[in-house]
Amino acid sequence: TDQAHIRNFCIIAHIDHGKSTLADRLLEYTGTISSREMTEQVLDQMELERERGITIKAQAVRMLYTARNGEQYELNLIDTPGHVDFTYEVSRSLAACEGALLVIDATQGIEAQTLANLYLALEADLTIIPVINKIDLPSADPERVRQEVEDVIGLPASECLLASAKEGIGVSEILEAIVERIPPPHGNLGRPLRALVFDSHYDSYKGVIAYVRIVDGSVRVGDRIAMMATGSVTEVIEAGYFQPRMVSTQILSAGEVGYLATGFKNVKDCRVGDTATVPEVLGQIEPLPGYKPAKPMVFAGFYPVDSDDYPLLREALERLQLNDASLSFEPETSAALGFGFRCGFLGLLHMEIIQERLEREYGLRILATAPNVEYYVTKRNGEVVKVDNPSAFPPPGEIEKIEEPWVELSIFSPARYIGPIMELVTARRGVFKEMKYIEADRVLLTYRMPLAELIVDFHDQLKSRTQGYASLDYSFAGYREADLVKLDILVNGQPVDALSIIVHRSEAYRRGRALVEKLHKLIPRQLFEVPIQAAIGSRVIARETIKALRKDVLAKCYGGDVTRKKKLLEKQKEGKKRMKMVGSVEIPQEAFMAVLSLK
Ligand code: GTP
Repeated sequence: TDQAHIRNFCIIAHIDHGKSTLADRLLEYTGTISSREMTEQVLDQMELERERGITIKAQAVRMLYTARNGEQYELNLIDTPGHVDFTYEVSRSLAACEGALLVIDATQGIEAQTLANLYLALEADLTIIPVINKIDLPSADPERVRQEVEDVIGLPASECLLASAKEGIGVSEILEAIVERIPPPHGNLGRPLRALVFDSHYDSYKGVIAYVRIVDGSVRVGDRIAMMATGSVTEVIEAGYFQPRMVSTQILSAGEVGYLATGFKNVKDCRVGDTATVPEVLGQIEPLPGYKPAKPMVFAGFYPVDSDDYPLLREALERLQLNDASLSFEPETSAALGFGFRCGFLGLLHMEIIQERLEREYGLRILATAPNVEYYVTKRNGEVVKVDNPSAFPPPGEIEKIEEPWVELSIFSPARYIGPIMELVTARRGVFKEMKYIEADRVLLTYRMPLAELIVDFHDQLKSRTQGYASLDYSFAGYREADLVKLDILVNGQPVDALSIIVHRSEAYRRGRALVEKLHKLIPRQLFEVPIQAAIGSRVIARETIKALRKDVLAKCYGGDVTRKKKLLEKQKEGKKRMKMVGSVEIPQEAFMAVLSLK
């Protein structure tokens, strides 16, 4: 297709504002898939996923659309991940487009991720088409949202399109706007190949499938290609596009979006953000801007509940990593938990997804330690070490200074919750930056805060203090020095390395106290008395004692109700699932995560 008849766009939105539903309507309207196919299609793909143990992503769908001017256009819809953990991936997907539909829920208005995504789209120089969705709902207030778009985003209210993705209202106007308002790509067909990799997945037959936007030149099946950041070279096994099934073609050329089957065995050879070119010009032409290797921000120990599963856990992590270059892991040994892995994640959601996949897809039972951030520790001897595991902290006497990562935090909320939000952020060592009124009763609050404080239950706290109304976004804002100490937990006199946490000195006493009390409730009674202590160095700052178990657990149900007895036994069995023997004491998974829910 000539570039004048190509439009590359994405849909950006706050979660639940209707991105997927609108995408479905566009696919239906353009006949890319029929509404009957819609459900079948989805099911098919999931089955395939299960069979091959891979994630098939319909990340970039090509639609053909005949506009009102009578001409046919190739519209490429590029999907973007919807969560803050994946900001970098979002930015690469946006870089593959010329325009974006900004979907805003007519009953909600602009939210934190609406703006966060908008800023990313503006950075990528995209043409923005605001779409006010869900106008079918009785509580919809499109006029208010229009005004917000003008006041907050600075786009004329008149540019807003009104839609109901659910009812199919406004879909043809949106397609026309895509053709009319979004500029066509301006690649140079005569130059050597430059293709932006905006996503990839591993396929066990074809190797890594790279999702690409061809910026300059063209690429054919059988061509040799080279990755500019990694230097890896391979031959293109297959080229094509998604409709949304994979449709292979002989060639992809400037302006187009599609996939290349690379034969690479690992996504590490073909990183998101990298530029594919031809080996002959490697080192002679400029890569496309913006490549960044993925950097894990949150770390946790993953241990198999059953230590025989260690090799299986390693294999599973290796398999997941084939598909996920942002997952890192290395072997780690814990005196308490045995052999496991220290894993690095983009954020908490990423961590949850990986844990869930290990359990669901590989049948593993994982004991995860509380997540922590990575610290830079400067030692007295001038050496700087990166520490991603609290138990590996150098002894206090050797430490000159400690630095920790900070984030910039944007919170959208009805104005009536400003007080509780301030209180929450301040208690987490947050520093207020600014407050903007979006409307008479809605504000945008900006803070700086240590990342470590954000990953400990912050989001849930924010939701509960604002009755679910506040939304949150954050971005990395550099490292800062902090007065931190390592808090150790001793169970039955033994330090349990996997329970150690890093806390601010001023918080150490309170956290130690709270943690000990919590553990006291979580660790089941044993046949003997078990002291639980919190200590900084050799100084114990808090203590609780778990009383010894009475002989018969069921004694209290004696003569009583059978179902109750059954329940109790069941509960015990449940609890058994995730226990680790530490010395002579059984410690449940909840204990390792206890630090996450300290008030
Ligand atoms: P994530 O994929 O979770 O980020 O959400 P999303 O932004 O893709 O939203 P999705 O399309 O899943 O829609 C969220 C919910 O809103 C679903 O229950 C949809 O059925 C509903 N929804 C989407 N568009 C409309 C609309 O125009 N009207 C109404 N009434 N509901 C809608």
